Amino acid sequence: MLQWRLLRLSLITMCFLCPLTSAHLDRQELVALAKIVRTMGATLNSSVDPCESKTLVISDSKPGLDQNKVVCNCHPNPSTCHITILVLRMYSLPGTLPPQLVDLPYLEELDLTRNYLEGTLPKEWATMKFLRSISLAANRITGEIPREWGSFTNLTSLSLEANRLSGNIPAELGNLVNLTVLILSSNKFVGNLPEKLAAMKNLTDFRISGNNFSGSIPQFIGNWTRLKRLELYATGLEGPIPNGIFHLEALNDLRITDMNGANFFPEYLPHKDYMKNLVLRNVNMSGSIPPIIWEMKKLSVLDVSLNRLKGNFPSIPHVPEFTFLGGNMLSGTVPDSILDEDKYIDLSYNNVTWPCQKNTVNINFYGCSSQTASSGIHQCPSKPNCKNKYHSFHINCGGENVTITDNSGKFSYDGDDYVGSASTNYVSGSNWGYSSTGVYMDNDKKAPMFTISNSSKLSMDCSELYMTARRAPTSLIYYGFCLENGEYTVRLHFAEIEITDNEAYRSLGQRIFDIYIQGKLEWKDFNIMEEANGTGKPVTKQINVAVTDNMLEIRLYWAGKGTTSIPKKGTYGPLISAISACHSMLSISDPFL
Ligand SMILES: *[C@@H]1O[C@H](CO)[C@@H](O)[C@H](O)[C@H]1NC(C)=O
Ligand SMILES: *[C@@H]1O[C@H](CO)[C@@H](O)[C@H](O)[C@H]1NC(C)=O
Ligand SMILES: *[C@@H]1O[C@H](CO)[C@@H](O)[C@H](O)[C@H]1NC(C)=O
Ligand SMILES: *[C@@H]1O[C@H](CO)[C@@H](O)[C@H](O)[C@H]1NC(C)=O
Ligand SMILES: *[C@@H]1O[C@H](CO)[C@@H](O)[C@H](O)[C@H]1NC(C)=O
Ligand SMILES: *[C@@H]1O[C@H](CO)[C@@H](O)[C@H](O)[C@H]1NC(C)=O
Ligand SMILES: *[C@@H]1O[C@H](CO)[C@@H](O)[C@H](O)[C@H]1NC(C)=O
Ligand SMILES: *[C@@H]1O[C@H](CO)[C@@H](O)[C@H](O)[C@H]1NC(C)=O
Ligand SMILES: *[C@@H]1O[C@H](CO)[C@@H](O)[C@H](O)[C@H]1NC(C)=O
Ligand SMILES: *[C@@H]1O[C@H](CO)[C@@H](O)[C@H](O)[C@H]1NC(C)=O
Ligand SMILES: *[C@@H]1O[C@H](CO)[C@@H](O)[C@H](O)[C@H]1NC(C)=O
Repeated sequence: MLQWRLLRLSLITMCFLCPLTSAHLDRQELVALAKIVRTMGATLNSSVDPCESKTLVISDSKPGLDQNKVVCNCHPNPSTCHITILVLRMYSLPGTLPPQLVDLPYLEELDLTRNYLEGTLPKEWATMKFLRSISLAANRITGEIPREWGSFTNLTSLSLEANRLSGNIPAELGNLVNLTVLILSSNKFVGNLPEKLAAMKNLTDFRISGNNFSGSIPQFIGNWTRLKRLELYATGLEGPIPNGIFHLEALNDLRITDMNGANFFPEYLPHKDYMKNLVLRNVNMSGSIPPIIWEMKKLSVLDVSLNRLKGNFPSIPHVPEFTFLGGNMLSGTVPDSILDEDKYIDLSYNNVTWPCQKNTVNINFYGCSSQTASSGIHQCPSKPNCKNKYHSFHINCGGENVTITDNSGKFSYDGDDYVGSASTNYVSGSNWGYSSTGVYMDNDKKAPMFTISNSSKLSMDCSELYMTARRAPTSLIYYGFCLENGEYTVRLHFAEIEITDNEAYRSLGQRIFDIYIQGKLEWKDFNIMEEANGTGKPVTKQINVAVTDNMLEIRLYWAGKGTTSIPKKGTYGPLISAISACHSMLSISDPFL
């Protein structure tokens, strides 16, 4: 024991005696680093060597976040190391992007995800010969992608997701033939995708969702033979989807949503054995679902909802775990094989019939017809068999029963705490229900949170109603049934409680969805934070509508816009706190007026 201690002591002493064995960042790089950190809005403590500590010691550094990393190359001379990797994520750094980065000439990887950086992309960076990976996702960067970036010789991965970049994509970017990952989603890019991008044949991952591009999806994407993931949610581009895309042999994750144009499934798909996600939602697809889809053994998410697909169900050898077929014109009897308890199946808004005696926990038939209407009443509220007629309904979405009292009276809001699943049609004990569909694609699909609670104090009136909310990845429909016909006043109460602003980068989240009442689009690109002027603040939308068939339907739909990963992955889709609907004959005044 004593010997061991002595040995350890001498080892420590040795290290003090031989400073050459500890890493020292090159003097010039250290000076440059201090400037870089200052430009980004923090202060570097230069007395701690970043190569030695493997992190940057900076002012207002938030402890506990494992998002600060420095990697140095100390060969051959440990006294003059060079920074090769710099990671500073989730620091809400408030400054600008540092042009001085060029003074770290050996830098290979830069990751500044989830800060609060503004300014434009420095054109100087393109001269950095070793820089191969840049992530600036979730910042406030403005301006265009500089043409000069077309000469970024070693760049292989670029993510500019969730910023405020605008303008056209420069044709010069097509010179980056070695680029494998290009992510431009959630910005304000416009214009056509330039033909010169055709040369980027090394791309394996291409995402440009949530922009305002114009023109058709370029044919050349169908020539990017290495492509594995293609994500085009609400790009602004139009169909048709080039046939080449369906034939890309490496593709296993194809997502296109919310797009105009005439689209069809091709006869043949080569991905039978490895396609994992196939999302073609709200893209005006007609024709039928090709039988080969049901042979894709690895297919986990199939979402072809909100199209004009027709046809009966053939025999189905493999049912993907998440199968969303809602909002089409499918007909015929649903085969038993699809009614599997472990699968999440959405067949809402079709014209299908099904065996009612089946346990249908995660199967959503809302709005479908049924063979046995008498027992299927709750699964089929569009033709309810009502004993009583109601004049109102009140829902505290995602929460418990609450009673709101104020000087105009008492109001009871029904609890809505049945958590639900990726495909749910829930019917309450009174006269309302909800239909919820969708899966947070890039999160743990097994542990979604469809009901959420506030994580900080709320100070609005009737805060009980806003302390919980229901959310859904794609579609959330609340409906009232057995209502007396007539004119109703509908009030929808919202407060953004998932995106908070306790750290600056969090407030960059943009939840955007559409609201349909009785099938009519009433509020497009609705953004709670924008309307309420901040997070944790209430906003109420009110509308008068006619009920003519005893049903009132409020549909919230994520049409692919906004951010999806601020503050964390899977923060998007509709969210609502409370709903009330009252017949105009009821002269009840609501506490929210
Ligand atoms: C810099 O870090 C050293 C070592 O941790 C510490 O002693 C010193 O107080 C720090 N300086 C400032 C200005 O924070
Ligand atoms: C690209 O990086 C590699 C090392 O990763 C280096 O050998 C090469 O010289 C760089 N290319 C250019 C054009 O500088
Ligand atoms: C692409 O990468 C190869 C090998 O890494 C390199 O030789 C070539 O210069 C790169 N081309 C461009 C245009 O960056
Ligand atoms: C890019 O593709 C070319 C062939 O098209 C290939 O020679 C080169 O190595 C690829 N570069 C990378 C980084 O994979
Ligand atoms: C998108 O671009 C079109 C022109 O191509 C323009 O009319 C429209 O207003 C833009 N939309 C947004 C949300 O900026
Ligand atoms: C796709 O590649 C083929 C063969 O390399 C070429 O003939 C064709 O012109 C390319 N199409 C587009 C749209 O780039
Ligand atoms: C939908 O596709 C049909 C052809 O199948 C086409 O006539 C129609 O214009 C398309 N609608 C939109 C909005 O693109
Ligand atoms: C729904 O399907 C039934 C047969 O299953 C058919 O008689 C009926 O016409 C269909 N309705 C619509 C609107 O397509
Ligand atoms: C809410 O009240 C109803 C009766 O009005 C009751 O059936 C239900 O269990 C209550 N829900 C909760 C969450 O307390
Ligand atoms: C939610 O808001 C209520 C009302 O302001 C508050 O009492 C409660 O502490 C908040 N919950 C959390 C976790 O902050
Ligand atoms: C929005 O909130 C900010 C402070 O967070 C305030 O300065 C501004 O006046 C508010 N705008 C409106 C329209 O209420």
